[in-house]
Amino acid sequence: MPELLETVDVAKYFGGVRALDGVSIKVKEGSVIGLIGPNGSGKTTLFNVITGFYVPERGEVWFNNEQIDGLNPNEVYLKGLVRTFQIPRLFPSLTVLENVIITPPYQIGERVLDAPFKKRWEKQEIDLAKKAVELLRRFGMGKYIKSKISELSAAHIKMLETIRGLLASPKILLLDEPAAGVAYTTAKELFEYILRLRSEQGLTFLIIEHRLEVLMDYVDYVYVLHNGRLLSEGKPEEVVQDPKVIEAYLGG
Ligand SMILES: Nc1ncnc2c1ncn2[C@@H]1O[C@H](COP(=O)(O)OP(=O)(O)O)[C@@H](O)[C@H]1O
Ligand SMILES: [Mg+2]
Repeated sequence: MPELLETVDVAKYFGGVRALDGVSIKVKEGSVIGLIGPNGSGKTTLFNVITGFYVPERGEVWFNNEQIDGLNPNEVYLKGLVRTFQIPRLFPSLTVLENVIITPPYQIGERVLDAPFKKRWEKQEIDLAKKAVELLRRFGMGKYIKSKISELSAAHIKMLETIRGLLASPKILLLDEPAAGVAYTTAKELFEYILRLRSEQGLTFLIIEHRLEVLMDYVDYVYVLHNGRLLSEGKPEEVVQDPKVIEAYLGG
């Protein structure tokens, strides 16, 4: 399959609720794709199916020419498919910097046989910390590097999730509402940075975002979910003019 990520006719039910009912999307390598839809339309559930948190009732997920539905979240993560959570999952007793550098895969210092030998992991750890500090500063969080998570605002916690995802060296990053609660200018900066990462490193993004006024300037293509089904898809300027989409949003 030529696409980097593809879902084929994916269905996921919770009891009588058809959270997803036959959803097929395609994400080309190096693209920035938006996934939108009213609350409860199935966006987060699609992320959960793609990243192995849920096994779909029906359908397939393909990544990098490999069928990945049925793999567990850790296996999916190690393939370079990294997601953030709508409600950030952080370690409250650790500092901001510790939280950011804790996740990337293949950290040498975590391997039992290497852990006692500082030389083997010291450089990797320092490089990672440098990169983390650079990202934290870029997004206005430099002064919180040593703060505890409990001292942060909701917006900063949201930013932290995204920064953590970026540091995991993903092939594709799935962001669940990265701009939620984040100030307009900071949200813009975040999306500008996403576009830079795409052009400089060929990174691919699939982004759920409720704030369309931020998202629409940055995405190549948009999928719209409604009641677990694809309601519309296309270029951002086409999708926002689609009467079905307008009605779904106005109708709640
Ligand atoms: N773990 C779950 N158990 C039961 N129902 C769920 C669960 N997760 C999601 N749902 C339901 O599935 C539908 C889609 O939810 P979700 O994917 O979170 O929507 P969105 O992210 O678009 O707001 C909603 O009706 C929601 O209540
Ligand atoms: Mg959601």
